[in-house]
Amino acid sequence: MVIKAHASRVIKVFDDSVQVLDDDSSQLEEIWVKVTQSHFNRQIEKQSFNELKEVILEVLTAACSLNDQQIEIWVKLMDFIYDIIFRTIDELEQGA
Ligand code: HEM
Repeated sequence: MVIKAHASRVIKVFDDSVQVLDDDSSQLEEIWVKVTQSHFNRQIEKQSFNELKEVILEVLTAACSLNDQQIEIWVKLMDFIYDIIFRTIDELEQGA
């Protein structure tokens, strides 16, 4: 139940992210810095974020029957988002 609730939260954040994709990337940055900060406070590490990334891509590919080109686009978006997450974790670790 807890995992299910979290999965819905994750999907909601991705939905919000896709909504702001047409605008400049500062809104995307804002969304993901917020998520990273709340997870940093819960001691969630990069390793766990990486594991979730793999799961998200696997589930998306299967559930939406993504073709290679679509997978490539999602990987690009995920990499962009994960750059924000990991940069934010680094800054928080350095007490910035
Ligand atoms: C794509 C990455 C992730 C997204 C978008 C995401 C999203 C969220 C959101 C929106 C919340 C509730 C609001 C908040 O506190 O920020 C939350 C809570 C939480 N997340 Fe994540 N999360 C992600 C990754 C992870 C990972 C990797 C873990 C640990 C394995 C994790 C564990 C938790 C826990 C323990 C909570 C608090 C309990 C709950 O609200 O379900 N999250 N997450």
